[in-house]
Amino acid sequence: MPKHEVKDFVDVLYVQTMTKRFAATLGFSSRECGELAIVASELSSNILKYGPPGSIELEPISDAGGTGVQVTAHDQGPQFKNLELAVQDGWDDAGPIDPVSIFRRKGMGGGLGAVVRLTHRMTVVPAPQGKSIVAVRYLKR
Ligand SMILES: Nc1ncnc2c1ncn2[C@@H]1O[C@H](COP(=O)(O)OP(=O)(O)OP(=O)(O)O)[C@@H](O)[C@H]1O
Ligand SMILES: [Mg+2]
Repeated sequence: MPKHEVKDFVDVLYVQTMTKRFAATLGFSSRECGELAIVASELSSNILKYGPPGSIELEPISDAGGTGVQVTAHDQGPQFKNLELAVQDGWDDAGPIDPVSIFRRKGMGGGLGAVVRLTHRMTVVPAPQGKSIVAVRYLKR
């Protein structure tokens, strides 16, 4: 899929659909395609929240780990304060989220945890303006 700009919620919906379709062409099962749609959806909703406009790119990958799909989410937001904390469920990038603030902040801090669980690798590559989050899932472990 060519790079798709993410600047509105409708782009998140488009990315979900395109990810399912693209993953299917690479041989992922329908369950795996659904899981990859969650990955792309969480990364694109984070673009909207933390650094729009950004983009999602889906590419086939083939390396020492096998063959699969690479999802690259680029945004223009600030760097993660602490990525290790950010991937914990219920935490933001500085620590646990106060339960009282969850409704107001629109999110319970579960998106990146899901991305980590549903992929084999997630890395953050800082860019001059913003960063890219690169997630890879192979067809087989
Ligand atoms: N693209 C990003 N740029 C900067 N910080 C980010 C980005 N994505 C996530 N973060 C930080 O990492 C934290 C965890 O992200 P995560 O997606 O797990 O949770 P959330 O977006 O807060 O809530 P949810 O995904 O459950 O709606 C965020 O609260 C934010 O502090
Ligand atoms: Mg999120």
